[in-house]
Amino acid sequence: MKNRNTLLLLLLVAGCTSTPKNKYNTWSEYLGGPDRNHYSTLTQIDTNNVKQLAIAWMYDAPDTGQMQMSPIMVNDVLYGVTVGLKAFALDAATGKQRWIYKDSVVASNSCRGVAYWEDGDDKRIFYTAGQNLIALNATTGKLVSTFGNNGKLDLHTGLPDEAKDKFITSTTPGTIYKNLIIMPVRVAEDAGAAPGHVRAFDTRTGKLMWTFHTIPQPGEKGYDTWPKDAYKNENIGAVNNWAGMALDKKTGTLFIPLGSAAPDFYGANRNGANLYANCLLALNADDGAYKWHFQMIHHDLWDRDPPAPPNLITVTKNGQQIDAVAQVTKQGYTFVLDRNTGHSLFPIIETEVPASLVPGEQAWPTQPIPSLPKPYARAAWQLTENDISPYAANKEELKQKFLAADRRLFGPPDTSNVLLFPGYDGGAEWGGAAADPFKGILYVNANEMAWYLKVEKQAATAVVAGKGAVQVSAGKQLYSSYCSGCHGKDRMGNATSGYPNLTTVPQKSTQQYVHQIISNGKGMMPAFNNISKDDQQRVVDYLFGTEKKEAMSANLANTHQDLYKHSGYQKFLDDKGLPGINPPWGTLTAIDLNTGQQLWHVPFGTTPTLPNQDTNPTGCENYGGPIVTENGLLLIAATKDGMFRAYNKNSGKLLWQAQLPAASFATPAMYSVNGRQYLVLACGGEKLGTPKGNKVVAFALP
Ligand code: HEC
Repeated sequence: MKNRNTLLLLLLVAGCTSTPKNKYNTWSEYLGGPDRNHYSTLTQIDTNNVKQLAIAWMYDAPDTGQMQMSPIMVNDVLYGVTVGLKAFALDAATGKQRWIYKDSVVASNSCRGVAYWEDGDDKRIFYTAGQNLIALNATTGKLVSTFGNNGKLDLHTGLPDEAKDKFITSTTPGTIYKNLIIMPVRVAEDAGAAPGHVRAFDTRTGKLMWTFHTIPQPGEKGYDTWPKDAYKNENIGAVNNWAGMALDKKTGTLFIPLGSAAPDFYGANRNGANLYANCLLALNADDGAYKWHFQMIHHDLWDRDPPAPPNLITVTKNGQQIDAVAQVTKQGYTFVLDRNTGHSLFPIIETEVPASLVPGEQAWPTQPIPSLPKPYARAAWQLTENDISPYAANKEELKQKFLAADRRLFGPPDTSNVLLFPGYDGGAEWGGAAADPFKGILYVNANEMAWYLKVEKQAATAVVAGKGAVQVSAGKQLYSSYCSGCHGKDRMGNATSGYPNLTTVPQKSTQQYVHQIISNGKGMMPAFNNISKDDQQRVVDYLFGTEKKEAMSANLANTHQDLYKHSGYQKFLDDKGLPGINPPWGTLTAIDLNTGQQLWHVPFGTTPTLPNQDTNPTGCENYGGPIVTENGLLLIAATKDGMFRAYNKNSGKLLWQAQLPAASFATPAMYSVNGRQYLVLACGGEKLGTPKGNKVVAFALP
């Protein structure tokens, strides 16, 4: 008896210390596991032999273009999804296709991966196409008819009726906990976005099991951080978890980074701190009960939503082991919090920031800045006119633009340019950070691209409801309310920023194609189901030059409008399309979360058109995260230059690199089958104007 008790006690003690090491040799969940650490203890590939890595197999996906997908591996089968939203299963050792599933519904959202659930012989793959969460039999690739509506669950399920026609999808796979799948969602970012409530569904039936209101309702904590009845206001929405979440299985806790409230850049109708927007939220995974929250931006006006799931790690402070959660951000800060309490492990300085300049807006007077770790990206307020790119031919012009822009810390959106730096795409992005969970070291790749941020007053005609008598181009008005933010007032788009030129659409495509894109979205373009069919036709007519002048439609006047609207995504570039500020334009950083100190910080990636990239790389834009191994490697693709690189994780020294068949804007996966260690990457290119590809590539030692 006594012995048994001692044993039990030992087991209990063991259970209280950090998680056992052996769990990091699999890759059966998104980003390696529920703690999203992109971490592996496999040892075959090491810092000495990494130079010998060679392609073991390649899978030709049936469609071509930007794959942001990071695959998973279960029972020697690799599961992933193509850019055309076809889910597939491959033999993980050979790349041979076992099955492929193409949904009949037309959808073209980005999809970063799949989730796996099993109970005995019942094994399922979940992924999202358009508004549907799809459940497939993992062995056959056939729809699981008992789930949702014949294998599909509409992600509107459990949202208020008013949101039934609003855009919703998911770019990130759900998190599996017991028999629940907890869903991240992507919604629109403009006035009229669907609410981003976090919802858990039964993995067997699709039944809604719990909901957490991310925009609180009367009686719920945080309700008073919004104007009265904000949750009912049709013009307010989002606060969605689009980046995915981490799960601590030991305590049954979800750590959920929540996005900004919509509209992103003008918050006059949502004055207040706006909980739980821009929060890291801890919920009980069983029932969705609130545990704690930490808000990283108050009343966001910059679209500073946390871009990646947090990392669950253990750190040592004052000799004590603390289970911590680390959240990387677009603004270059890392928030390191106690997983149990949500308290920051480093002092947070609520820093006074500038007041709003546009009427109606009330920027929050302070923003939280962690005293440590030191930011991994530079910020606008630190730059001077000496930081204009040395490679630019039009330095003087850039300097004038630079000096004219508001470069203050949290400079508020205005009708003249703010230099948003780090830009809309961070800092960190959806690739997220890798971490050594035991040592508490975080590895993060970041962009250092400056962009402009500006809002414009909406034309009065577009905001006055019910005034139908004005002779205007309705199509143009609709275009300027819904499309110009991304495709530009002149319809020229911004190729380097990923927004296509629409002036050539009539030459290269049909009206039907454009209707389809407006209804379903495409990649990072949201769908606009809230635009009536008539108004859709007006926009299409405008794009094709087939419109008639008409009185503005009542529909148009009643659509969701804001007094001030974001004027478009525009990078601060030189006359050759290269970044207007000096390098590095992309970086890789190792941060010791025990001390908050950076261990190393190096430029990441090259600009092949510039000199001396071997000795003095500029770094470049990058999307998709790293993998880190216990035995000393950091492996990452992600860069615009299309390379795959291996670094020494202790020094940041480049050990090896190889050119991929197309750039891989995705996080790799690492696993072992039959004693051979593989590293798999989705190489779809397309983003940032790179050539398209369709290969899933597996590397291994020869
Ligand atoms: C939030 C930004 C955003 C908004 C708003 C937006 N788009 Fe897009 N749009 C994109 C992006 C990004 C792409 C490229 C998608 C891809 O190929 O992955 C795109 C692609 C397109 C394409 C395909 C172009 C081609 O060359 O194939 C059309 C057509 C289009 N958009 C029309 C519209 C119209 C019409 C509206 C307004 C109703 C609109 N877009 C609003 C971001 C946006």
